[in-house]
Amino acid sequence: MRWKQLFVIMTAVALLLIAGCERKVTEQITNVLPAESAGYIGSQACSACHSETYINFKRTGHPYKLNYADSAFLPVGEYYPFTSVPLPADLTADDVFMVIGGFRWKARYINNQGEILTGDDRQYNFATDEFVAYDASTAPTKDYKCGPCHMTAYRDDGGHQLGLPGLIGTWEFNGIQCEECHGPGQLHAASPYEVDMKIDRSSEACGKCHIRGAVNKIPASNGFIKHHEQWNEMFTTKHQALQCVDCHNVHYTLHPSAPQTERDMAINLNCENCHLAETESFENTTIDAHLTSPFAPTCIDCHMARAAKSAVAMDTYVGDIRSHLWRINTDSTAEMFTEDGKYANGYLTLEYVCLQCHTTETKGWAARHSSDVHVNPGAPNNESSSSMTISTR
Ligand code: HEC
Ligand code: HEC
Ligand code: HEC
Ligand code: HEC
Ligand code: HEC
Ligand code: HEC
Ligand code: HEC
Ligand code: HEC
Repeated sequence: MRWKQLFVIMTAVALLLIAGCERKVTEQITNVLPAESAGYIGSQACSACHSETYINFKRTGHPYKLNYADSAFLPVGEYYPFTSVPLPADLTADDVFMVIGGFRWKARYINNQGEILTGDDRQYNFATDEFVAYDASTAPTKDYKCGPCHMTAYRDDGGHQLGLPGLIGTWEFNGIQCEECHGPGQLHAASPYEVDMKIDRSSEACGKCHIRGAVNKIPASNGFIKHHEQWNEMFTTKHQALQCVDCHNVHYTLHPSAPQTERDMAINLNCENCHLAETESFENTTIDAHLTSPFAPTCIDCHMARAAKSAVAMDTYVGDIRSHLWRINTDSTAEMFTEDGKYANGYLTLEYVCLQCHTTETKGWAARHSSDVHVNPGAPNNESSSSMTISTR
């Protein structure tokens, strides 16, 4: 540890001498200051100058990872933008000190010792408005060790946040605030044109939390990909060459209850922007209903089917989180998961893609029709397209 700090300080000094670049040195030195003086100022402080970003960001899930219970129980819109968390029937408000999540899929509860409540009825699922069991093997409680992925400037320092024995580690702020991604803001806020904030566009920066285990495997259980592993999924595909933020703008919400115009802001590039040929071949499909039906599928309905699960599955082949595998295996015998069911094979199979809507059909039916979904203009089986060409001449 000492060595590392010395090295960083020497690098800082060297930079000062060699490059004479004041700004870099300030950054290097802030990095080696003890955490107490590291200069975190909180998202609210950024709003003074970045008010639009702040207002939109407060409607995303990131800042709501860990919440004081009295705020979480407030009516919709008074704390969470789209939800309100209910209390398990056998508890009173005094039993619950904090709520984990509650922004979108599910909520879990923390007691006055900082421990997570486990066992029957200790997880609330929004989609079904039901309480279900959570980690019954540890009931009635377990320690809260989830900080590295849920907090701003988490420190695995042997300490306990707020001095509560169940809260493992310490941190600057509850939830993923601006400074978790952009670094401490005190110096920048004091002189924004002198001190830049960190901007890290790499998938690894998001993958720090949107990961499960080793990145080259895709953990699964009970017929679904597990949640929070978008980076594992993407890593196995050709989209590995992209960054998460090529598609995502994390300052805007993707909550399904948000107006579509707002959700649109959260996606920088749509599939159609890059895949011109496949967009055209999709528009040439021989399955007319896929273009005309009010329930017709979009690119992401098929290529990002909900094959992952966070809270609760909606049907045999429908989870509640969109997959980031994109690739579809059209073989009727292809298996989505390894034989032991513990990992996904790295592509979507047709029951998760087609049978989510065509619930009464079989995988064999889907396989027979899947080559009709994208049809090349001019290809021999594309009758509607060729007759169109003739009629316009
Ligand atoms: C006093 C006003 C002020 C405050 C407070 C402030 N900023 Fe800024 N910020 C600016 C200005 C002005 C710029 C544009 C600077 C420039 O163009 O060089 C900027 C730029 C940025 C950038 C882009 C940097 C780049 O290299 O393009 C980020 C990221 C950023 N701020 C994040 C934050 C965060 C996070 C906070 C809160 C911790 C914050 N800012 C607080 C005024 C402020
Ligand atoms: C989950 C990580 C994350 C969080 C949290 C986050 N940002 Fe960003 N921010 C980014 C990334 C990544 C970029 C670069 C986006 C790009 O280039 O496509 C960025 C870009 C910016 C920029 C410069 C470009 C722009 O969009 O204006 C500003 C300013 C900024 N962020 C401010 C903020 C403020 C203020 C907050 C909190 C209210 C915040 N960010 C929260 C990841 C984050
Ligand atoms: C420190 C951990 C962490 C980092 C870093 C992080 N995320 Fe997240 N992300 C989360 C957690 C936890 C949630 C769930 C928030 C909730 O619903 O309570 C989430 C939610 C999301 C959502 C859904 C948000 C919504 O409003 O519906 C998107 C999209 C997302 N993250 C993308 C990204 C991208 C892209 C990056 C990198 C720029 C990133 N995340 C960086 C932990 C992180
Ligand atoms: C490796 C990082 C990581 C760890 C460790 C982690 N989470 Fe998460 N968690 C995430 C991300 C990312 C999301 C949102 C994206 C997703 O679910 O695919 C999330 C989502 C959640 C949600 C749903 C939030 C909502 O608004 O619906 C809850 C609840 C949750 N986590 C609880 C926990 C608990 C409890 C622990 C510890 C026992 C834990 N998580 C550990 C990364 C993590
Ligand atoms: C920024 C541009 C970009 C965007 C946006 C984009 N893609 Fe891609 N996609 C690519 C590139 C580049 C490849 C690799 C092409 C190749 O090597 O032939 C690719 C490959 C793919 C593949 C094959 C993956 C594999 O591993 O075999 C599928 C399927 C795909 N994209 C679907 C989609 C869908 C669906 C969307 C919208 C959610 C989308 N893409 C958005 C650029 C993009
Ligand atoms: C009804 C489901 C469905 C919809 C909707 C759909 N696709 Fe596809 N897509 C498929 C199937 C199935 C394949 C595999 C075709 C094959 O192998 O012959 C495919 C193949 C692709 C590929 C080639 C992947 C590779 O391995 O090279 C890309 C890229 C792609 N689609 C993009 C898109 C885009 C962009 C849209 C929206 C305009 C879209 N798809 C809409 C089902 C769909
Ligand atoms: C090729 C584009 C693309 C890339 C790359 C991409 N995403 Fe996504 N992601 C999307 C789209 C599209 C959605 C669905 C948006 C919607 O709800 O309409 C989505 C949804 C999500 C969600 C919410 C899941 C849900 O079911 O609503 C999370 C979390 C997320 N992405 C995280 C990430 C992370 C982390 C990365 C990088 C490891 C990443 N994404 C890379 C396009 C992309
Ligand atoms: C988001 C929902 C959705 C998805 C996903 C979807 N479809 Fe469809 N599809 C429809 C609707 C709606 C119709 C028109 C109503 C009907 O006939 O059931 C339709 C009609 C069809 C038809 C013509 C009517 C028939 O029943 O013979 C075929 C063939 C077809 N789809 C094949 C596929 C294949 C193959 C896939 C997967 C690669 C797929 N669909 C994925 C919604 C979907």
